[in-house]
Amino acid sequence: MNLHSFFLISAFSASVFAQGKIPNVTITNSTTSMHQLSSDPEFAFVLETFMSLASGGGVATGEMLRAASRIKPGDFESFYSEFKFFADTMAQQAASIRDPAKFAVSAREAHFRAASYYRAADFFLHGNASDPRIMTLWTSMLENFEAGAKLLPQPPERIELNATGFRVPVYFYQAPSAVNGGQYKHKAPTVLFGTGYDGAQQDIYHQFAHEVLARGWNFATYEGPGQATVRREQNIGFIPQWWDAVTPVVDWLQSRDDVDTDRIALVGLSFGGQLAPLAASHEHRFSAVIAIDGMLDIQESALQKYPEQIVELYKSGNATAFDFIMRKIYNTPGTSTEFKWALDQGMWSFNTESPFEWIKKMSEMAISKEMLNNISSPVFVASAQDDSVAPGQPEEMARLLGDKGTYHLFKTNIGAGEHCSLGAESQLSTVTMDWLTGVFENVTKSI
Ligand SMILES: *[C@@H]1O[C@H](CO)[C@@H](O)[C@H](O)[C@H]1NC(C)=O
Ligand SMILES: *[C@@H]1O[C@H](CO)[C@@H](O)[C@H](O)[C@H]1NC(C)=O
Ligand SMILES: *[C@@H]1O[C@H](CO)[C@@H](O)[C@H](O)[C@H]1NC(C)=O
Ligand SMILES: *[C@@H]1O[C@H](CO)[C@@H](O)[C@H](O)[C@H]1NC(C)=O
Ligand SMILES: *[C@@H]1O[C@H](CO)[C@@H](O)[C@H](O)[C@H]1NC(C)=O
Ligand SMILES: *[C@@H]1O[C@H](CO)[C@@H](O)[C@H](O)[C@H]1NC(C)=O
Ligand SMILES: *[C@@H]1O[C@H](CO)[C@@H](O)[C@H](O)[C@H]1NC(C)=O
Repeated sequence: MNLHSFFLISAFSASVFAQGKIPNVTITNSTTSMHQLSSDPEFAFVLETFMSLASGGGVATGEMLRAASRIKPGDFESFYSEFKFFADTMAQQAASIRDPAKFAVSAREAHFRAASYYRAADFFLHGNASDPRIMTLWTSMLENFEAGAKLLPQPPERIELNATGFRVPVYFYQAPSAVNGGQYKHKAPTVLFGTGYDGAQQDIYHQFAHEVLARGWNFATYEGPGQATVRREQNIGFIPQWWDAVTPVVDWLQSRDDVDTDRIALVGLSFGGQLAPLAASHEHRFSAVIAIDGMLDIQESALQKYPEQIVELYKSGNATAFDFIMRKIYNTPGTSTEFKWALDQGMWSFNTESPFEWIKKMSEMAISKEMLNNISSPVFVASAQDDSVAPGQPEEMARLLGDKGTYHLFKTNIGAGEHCSLGAESQLSTVTMDWLTGVFENVTKSI
C-alpha cells in the first residue's frame, strides 16, 4: 500500500447536514481558491498566515514575497534559513538606530518585523524538541517584540499571572479613548484574545490590536499551556481544563480600574475556537465568546485526515503499533508537509514523544453539548467557506448552541474563506466586533 499518497491532501469535499439557517458547507479547494506562495500547500498556508500580520505592521509584503520566492517546497531548513535572514537583518537595522527614542517609529517597526520573522523561522523546527533553535529564536523573538512594544505611544503592560501549576503570560493594551494624561477617564470594554495550536500572542497583536483599540476597547492577549511561550519556558503541554488558564486573567482584568467588568469578551482563534468555549464552560464572567472558527473536537479533525486503516489502528488501542506506523509514514519520502508538521507540532505542543498519546490527549479536550449549555453568554461562531481544518464543526457548534449562538459564514469569493479568514481580518472584525457592540449595548440595558 502506498501510504503516503493518502496524505497528499490537496482537495476534498465535505458537506454537512444542517437545519434551519445554518447552511451546509462545501469545502472547495484551498490550493486553488487563494493565490499560493509555494507549491507546497502547507508552506503556502503558513506564508499566508504570516502575510496576514502586514496590516498591523508585523511583516512587510515585499519581504514576505522575497522570502517565499526562495523557500524550497518541503524543505523545512530552507523555511528556517530564509526567515532567519530577514529576522537578523531587521534586528540589526533596529539595533543600528543609535537613538531609539528619537527614531522610535523606525526602531519599533524593525523590531516588530524582526520578531515576526523569528517566529516564522521557528515554525517548522518542532520535529526535534531538543533543537536548541526552538529556544534561541524565541529569545530573539521576545527581545525584539518587547523592544518594539516599549516604543509604542502607549506601551502594553506585560504580566505573568499565577495559575494552578503554571504561569500565564498576558499583554494588556489600554484603549486610547479611555486614558487622559495617564489617568483613565472611564472603564472600557475589554476583548481578550487567545491563540490556538501553533500561533503566538504576538501574532494576534498585529492581526487584531488595531481593530479593537480603534473601536475604543481595551485589547488583551494571553497564552496557556502548550502554546508558544508557556510550552518553551515552563515545559507544559495543552491541558483539558483550559479554564485554569483563563480564570486568572479574568481575575486580574476585574481588579483593574480601567476595565469595565461587565463587558469582557473572550475570542479564540483557530484551535482557540475550541479553547475559548471550553474555558467559558467553566468561567462564567465573560459577556461574550467568539470562536474563530468554531471547533468542537480537534481529535476528530485530525483523524478525519487519515485513511481508515490508520484510524482503525488508533482505535485498536495498540500504541506501539500505531506509533511505529506513524513514524514510518513520517519518514517515507514524499509524505506531505501537512502530515509531518501536524505530527511535529502536535507532539511538541502536547508534550509527548508518542503519536498515539498526542491523539489520545486531543480527545480529552472535546466540547460536549452539556459544556456548551453551561456557557452563560452569547457565543459568536465563525466559519470560513474554504476552511478544511475542521469542516462542519462550526456549523455543529452553532446548532448545539441554539438561540445562544450567532453563526456567520465568511466567503471565499471575497477573499475571506480561508481558515480564520486569514488576510481578511478587516472583514472578520467588521462582522464580529459589530456584533460585540450590540452585545455590549445589551449589557447596559440589563444592568
Ligand atoms: C444539507 O445536506 C443534507 C444532506 O446531504 C441535505 O438533505 C439538505 O437538503 C442540505 N441542506 C441545504 C440547505 O442545502
Ligand atoms: C485542487 O487543486 C489542485 C492543485 O492545483 C488541482 O490539481 C486539483 O485539480 C484541484 N481540485 C479541484 C476539485 O478543483
Ligand atoms: C535533535 O537535536 C539535538 C540537538 O541539536 C541533536 O543532538 C539530535 O541529534 C537531534 N535529534 C535528531 C533525531 O535529529
Ligand atoms: C506569583 O507567585 C509568586 C510566588 O508566590 C509571587 O512572587 C508573584 O508575585 C506572583 N505573581 C503575581 C502576578 O501575582
Ligand atoms: C458548569 O459550570 C460549573 C461551574 O463552573 C462547573 O462546576 C461544572 O462542572 C460545569 N459543567 C459542565 C458540563 O461543563
Ligand atoms: C501491538 O502491535 C504489535 C506490532 O504489530 C504486536 O507485536 C503486539 O502484539 C500488539 N499488542 C497487542 C496488545 O495487541
Ligand atoms: C440584544 O438584545 C435584543 C433584545 O433582546 C436581541 O434581539 C438582540 O439579538 C441582542 N443583540 C445581540 C448582539 O445579542
